[in-house]
Amino acid sequence: MSVRKICVYPDPILREQTEEITLFDEELGILVNDMWETMHVSDGIGLAGPQVGLAKKIAVIEYNGEKYVLINPVILEKENINTVEEGCLSFPGIYEKVESPEYIKVRYYDEKGELFEKEIEGFLACVFSHEIDHLNGKLLIDRVSPLKRQFLKKKIAKQAREK
Ligand code: CO
Repeated sequence: MSVRKICVYPDPILREQTEEITLFDEELGILVNDMWETMHVSDGIGLAGPQVGLAKKIAVIEYNGEKYVLINPVILEKENINTVEEGCLSFPGIYEKVESPEYIKVRYYDEKGELFEKEIEGFLACVFSHEIDHLNGKLLIDRVSPLKRQFLKKKIAKQAREK
């Protein structure tokens, strides 16, 4: 296993259109293991393909001791929008209150090609929604008010200059 580099905003890979995964092979297994390791060393609860430089429909989530590998996920239903504080490994040090679903119904494959359809509630629904947003090039910064977005862009640019 190896830790992959996490791409941070405004890296253009985060906006790329992602491709479906068609091969459930050994290489995919290695990628999934690398994503777990990368997420663990970064203390994250979710990580999507574009965040490790791959424009592919894949994400991993670990929450409350449960692990989920989402391949080609599709949100079928989304309900009960609530305000939740979210962070993102591509926005280090930034936590923002944003609107997020408390219920989703989702369909996805795991790394072995097994198909799942699940109804997910509570904070985990926010995490699923956040990771699936990544696969559509949608980011945390898109979900805040325009004024807040301006502020965050300036803050991120300043952080980058000071590195
Ligand atoms: Co994120």
